[in-house]
Amino acid sequence: MNKTYNTNEFEANRQLEIINELKSRYDEEYQRTKVKKTFHIVTFGCQMNSRDSEKISGILKQIGYIETDTEDADFVLYNTCTVRENANNRVFGRLGHVGKLKKNRPGMLVAVCGCMMQETTAVERVKKSYPFVDIIFGTHNIFKLAELIKTRIDNESVSDKHSDRMVIDLWKDTDMIVENLPNDRKYPFKAGVNIIYGCNNFCSYCIVPYVRGRERSRNPEDILEEIRALANDGVKEVMLLGQNVNSYGKNLNPQISFAQLLKEVEKIDKIKRIRFMTSHPKDLSQELIDVMGASKKICRHLHLPLQSGSTRLLKIMNRKYTKEDYLDLVDRIRKAVPDISLTTDIIVGFPGETEEDFMETIDVVKKVGFDNAFTFLYSKRAGTPAANMECQVDENVAKERFDRLLDEIHASAAKAAGRDVNSVKDVLVEEVNSQNEDLLTGRLSNNMLVHFPGDKSLIGEIIPVYLEESKGFYYIGKQA
Ligand code: SAH
Ligand code: SF4
Ligand code: F3S
Repeated sequence: MNKTYNTNEFEANRQLEIINELKSRYDEEYQRTKVKKTFHIVTFGCQMNSRDSEKISGILKQIGYIETDTEDADFVLYNTCTVRENANNRVFGRLGHVGKLKKNRPGMLVAVCGCMMQETTAVERVKKSYPFVDIIFGTHNIFKLAELIKTRIDNESVSDKHSDRMVIDLWKDTDMIVENLPNDRKYPFKAGVNIIYGCNNFCSYCIVPYVRGRERSRNPEDILEEIRALANDGVKEVMLLGQNVNSYGKNLNPQISFAQLLKEVEKIDKIKRIRFMTSHPKDLSQELIDVMGASKKICRHLHLPLQSGSTRLLKIMNRKYTKEDYLDLVDRIRKAVPDISLTTDIIVGFPGETEEDFMETIDVVKKVGFDNAFTFLYSKRAGTPAANMECQVDENVAKERFDRLLDEIHASAAKAAGRDVNSVKDVLVEEVNSQNEDLLTGRLSNNMLVHFPGDKSLIGEIIPVYLEESKGFYYIGKQA
């Protein structure tokens, strides 16, 4: 009888074999040279990319590389973002810089990966203008990194011409989720956990569905097992990650909702805080609101991208909710979770945005009173429906609106800040303050930062802190 494989498990085992093979080669080299090879990852973009970089780092450390904090390294990787045009420009700037470093560093490897490499034009530009790049891969095949390195090293004997040795492996989409590969984490006490990959929403301005592929939910058991292992390893806070976590489980059999998954995570004893990102308003269910209301562990912070307050524009953006739907949702959330902190994303200058549309956005900002917001000038992304829309907004008009919006957000954030002055709240201590070594920095459940005097042995602990004073975007406190 033929042996049937679960392709994902088969692939994971194949990759682990290649990782071990490279590890032996690197070990041998180390015995000779007594020098460990170094790597450095430059990460652009969102939490999804940060998490991917941790996976890349996990594979590299397993092979025998050690991490270093500059691009003067044996292996430099650029994990790119392409959500706005300026994200791309920053990557090309860095590639120019590393090209010069590479000239003086024989044997150095450079890789470009991530969302920008899912776009043909960007890949062509790298091939043409930065031919010293060694490896190009995308968002769907990070798990193959060891195999790509091996191919690149083996190519050394194939040709003298650098561009012939370049390894390019790009997948348009995938239904594969490869579990159980090496992993790395930036913090020992908090961790991001992917629950759903890709996006099916096709908001008309957004390139993410084209570069991250269709939605794929991870198996709940795989997620819970990962979180249990993290908890046993000392992790207290998990951040469940997805472009739209509220879509979690729709393609699984049996189906499971995001709210049900949260209830399962809540049962894991040593996990004390649960965060998630991002929630699409159209899919945020009453079930989720109720679960949040009843939970002792789900953090009192919700990032709920608005994009625009104009129902007319929201329709053209393909967001599938109206201004009133959004306001009603906020009301229901605040009723169930009165101490919730709300943050959002807003785009200014979407094609056809009129002054009236813009004032609808300002109206929502005033009505909701966001704790904070990320504001973006609309950026035209080739291949998205909005890029071909007529009446692109004049740059100066968009900038002027952007400044007005920013003033409004600052006013709203200032009002929200300081709500908890003179109270004692739990803080997860994250690090020594970067400006003042005598202070520690931590976060409240609602994601607000707190600086307070304390010993660095408290890092990773959740402790009560008295919040003395608000400084707008952070509190000054003392241990209670
Ligand atoms: N999945 C998340 C957001 C992903 S991108 C969500 O649906 O909310 C992060 C933010 O970038 C978006 O919320 C949006 O505000 C912004 N963004 C996306 N495409 C953009 C574009 N073409 N121009 C300007 N901002 C954009
Ligand atoms: Fe982009 Fe919309 Fe998907 Fe968010 S939900 S990633 S904005 S298409
Ligand atoms: Fe950028 Fe890709 Fe995230 S385009 S915002 S890094 S999903």
